[in-house]
Amino acid sequence: MRVGTVKEITDGEARVAITPDSAKRIIKLGYDVAIETGAGKVAGFDDFQYEEAGVSVLSSADDLWDTSEIIVKVNPPSTGEVEDLGEGKAVISFVYPQERQELLDLCASRKLSMLAMDMVPRISRAQKMDALSSMANIAGYRSVIEAGNNFGRFFTGQVTAAGKVPPAQVLVIGAGVAGLSAIGTATSLGAMVKAFDVRPEVAEQIESMGAQFLFLDFEEDASGSGGYAKPSSPEFREKQLELFRKVAPEIDIVITTALIPGVGAPKLWLADMVEAMKPGSVIVDLAAEKGGNCDLTKPGEKIVADNKVTIIGYTDFPSRMATQSSLLYATNIFHLLSDLTPEKNGMPFINMEDDVIRGATVAHGGEITYPPPPPKIQAIAVQPKIATKELTPEEKRHEELVKFKADTKRQISFLIAGGIVTALLGLVAPVSFMQHFVVFVLSCFVGYQVIWNVSHSLHTPLMSVTNAISGIIIIGAILQIGTLNTTILVLSGISLLIATINIVGGFYVTRRMLAMFQRS
Ligand code: NAI
Repeated sequence: MRVGTVKEITDGEARVAITPDSAKRIIKLGYDVAIETGAGKVAGFDDFQYEEAGVSVLSSADDLWDTSEIIVKVNPPSTGEVEDLGEGKAVISFVYPQERQELLDLCASRKLSMLAMDMVPRISRAQKMDALSSMANIAGYRSVIEAGNNFGRFFTGQVTAAGKVPPAQVLVIGAGVAGLSAIGTATSLGAMVKAFDVRPEVAEQIESMGAQFLFLDFEEDASGSGGYAKPSSPEFREKQLELFRKVAPEIDIVITTALIPGVGAPKLWLADMVEAMKPGSVIVDLAAEKGGNCDLTKPGEKIVADNKVTIIGYTDFPSRMATQSSLLYATNIFHLLSDLTPEKNGMPFINMEDDVIRGATVAHGGEITYPPPPPKIQAIAVQPKIATKELTPEEKRHEELVKFKADTKRQISFLIAGGIVTALLGLVAPVSFMQHFVVFVLSCFVGYQVIWNVSHSLHTPLMSVTNAISGIIIIGAILQIGTLNTTILVLSGISLLIATINIVGGFYVTRRMLAMFQRS
């Protein structure tokens, strides 16, 4: 079967759904790959690169639609593009099915299969196909670059002979994929970044990226399903706006990414907050496409407010980095094709039992299959909540007491059992053995208490301590290894070996951990 891609017809779209690299991988799935001539040109991929990868370059879009069984695209196809498609063919692209009833009806009536990249559920297994996240990641990065381009100062603070420059103060609202990417980019450029999100579970992610989580003292969990947020209550919103109003005068760059699927973009950066900002400040509203988070945003445009605050509402950030976004999008498409072709025989199988394929399929076999049922597997960002009954202080004290008694009973039983074994052994064993034996038992006990009670986050420093202990073992073993007694010789040989493995392993793991923080 043939997989083909056409030149995007949407105004200003520079991305392409198949790159020469992804084409090679699709061919390995057993497909024949074709493109319309010039399909990748604006994204930086020439026809000859595709030809070298084994792709057929067709002279017209019509040829491609006619001869391909699976057509992959970036933007949703127009009804005109699909109305003459033969029965049983499949189209894969962003679809936004909630806004395209006519297209879905057409696909169903023509028995076409349509898979929406924007409907791939956010579950761990589907991350490699999650094109919304790939594009949001690029949009987050680009929003910071765009902000920097319009901001008249450095991001990082500097002390120079000519004077002191304070670091730029950046606020990111909404720490989903785009928000976290913006946080990462802004912190790596040296800005002081603050971030806010209604989902409390992202606070840790924000802080681990070097930003400060703006904490709102209000009891409300706005986590919805699928790793997305749900609308917050009016009281919460008021508190949130109060917080933003307070920080607005000191913020230089605001990047807003707040979105609630199906509801749109909440208005969070109001006109009075723009007014309160310093001249020269910049707002990048990534949610512009969905109406914008800022009162003054004009979708697709850059405007300058009366107080000289620049408001950027571009809706095509991924397309502004077409090479990078095509590479990522084409890889997402390849992974979806790979899941659709488990036999690697060039024959797709739309398995409606598969959570990811079911989620993405919006039309199939003459039916509209949107909306899909919720995925059987929980979304990545949502942590399972364990239902716990709130205990009264009295009940808590009682529970602690019961636990303490049980622990004490267990420890006393161990001590008595240990004492009896040691006493029995003392009846038969020589005195010198008993001295060593007691030291050995105590070391085991102390070692157990020291190591077992250390929290997981401290295991790396703990490894250095165990390295020191291993060093002592090695010295002991070296002192013993010269003996003529075979048992002692074997035991010290084993100790030497195990302690060496521990030390070398410790250094190896430490080296790998340090490498994680090094830039190559
Ligand atoms: P996401 O759903 O992963 O993140 C949205 C975040 O906003 C979530 O973490 C959510 O908890 C948070 N949020 C919702 N309501 C909020 C509120 N009232 N206050 C604070 N945070 C709130 O979405 P993703 O993928 O990060 O995309 C973000 C936005 O960027 C979307 O609007 C998307 O359409 C847009 N986008 C824009 C592009 C462009 O070229 N302009 C390109 C790609 C994405």
